[in-house]
Amino acid sequence: MVRRVNIAIDGPAGSGKSTVARTVAKKLGFLYVDTGAMYRAVTLKAIQEGIDCNDYDALTDLARRSRIDQEAGHNGALRVMLDNMDVTQAIRAQEVNHNVSLVARVPGVRKHLAALQQAMAANGGVVMEGRDIGTAVLPQAEFKFFLTASPEERARRRLNDLLEKGYNLKQQQVIKEIMERDRIDSERATDPLKPAEGAKVIDSSLLSIDQVVNLITDAVSGEGTG
Ligand code: CDP
Repeated sequence: MVRRVNIAIDGPAGSGKSTVARTVAKKLGFLYVDTGAMYRAVTLKAIQEGIDCNDYDALTDLARRSRIDQEAGHNGALRVMLDNMDVTQAIRAQEVNHNVSLVARVPGVRKHLAALQQAMAANGGVVMEGRDIGTAVLPQAEFKFFLTASPEERARRRLNDLLEKGYNLKQQQVIKEIMERDRIDSERATDPLKPAEGAKVIDSSLLSIDQVVNLITDAVSGEGTG
């Protein structure tokens, strides 16, 4: 038995975080929380309501009046609910990809979502993935990991994801999009993307998903509390 610790997994787009975090949670019997899905849900609603991505007050207000839930769906995947509607597919749309980092810059939006995320992890036993989990949301998490991969590998993975979902995009377009998102995420003033103090950095460019998962579960199980 593994102690019900909290595990923070951060990293840029295409680093393999989501698949790794979901698999680790399944293996350990922990709750998986995808914080990016929450920023995506707020962004989707902003697009639907025609709110300008530079209107910080309107975006903060919008986040506060949104209900966002994550439920376990079939085969371990998460269902994301926005105001009780299933937006699992809708939050992956290209228009959301293009605007999400702008919405995620807004301090009031971050503050609100971080409080929800902290409440989810209050009893431990959570694998939470995002950009600022180890640095800002759960700085006290027992385990912190920062996943990276080369830009080419990240673009290749993201392109595969998108092709599987039926989007017809060119590799160059995908590289451009994730580099732009990384730039905004790393340069923003509030809780930018960076490895947390004490985080173990894992470069997954040459590792399989299983190898990364095992590195994490071995570290967690091997702490001598089991
Ligand atoms: O899965 P992918 O790497 O494409 O991104 P995501 O995890 O769904 O996150 C989408 C966006 O939300 C990121 O590019 C960040 O702008 C923002 N985000 C954030 O600011 N903080 C988090 N903890 C999670 C996501």
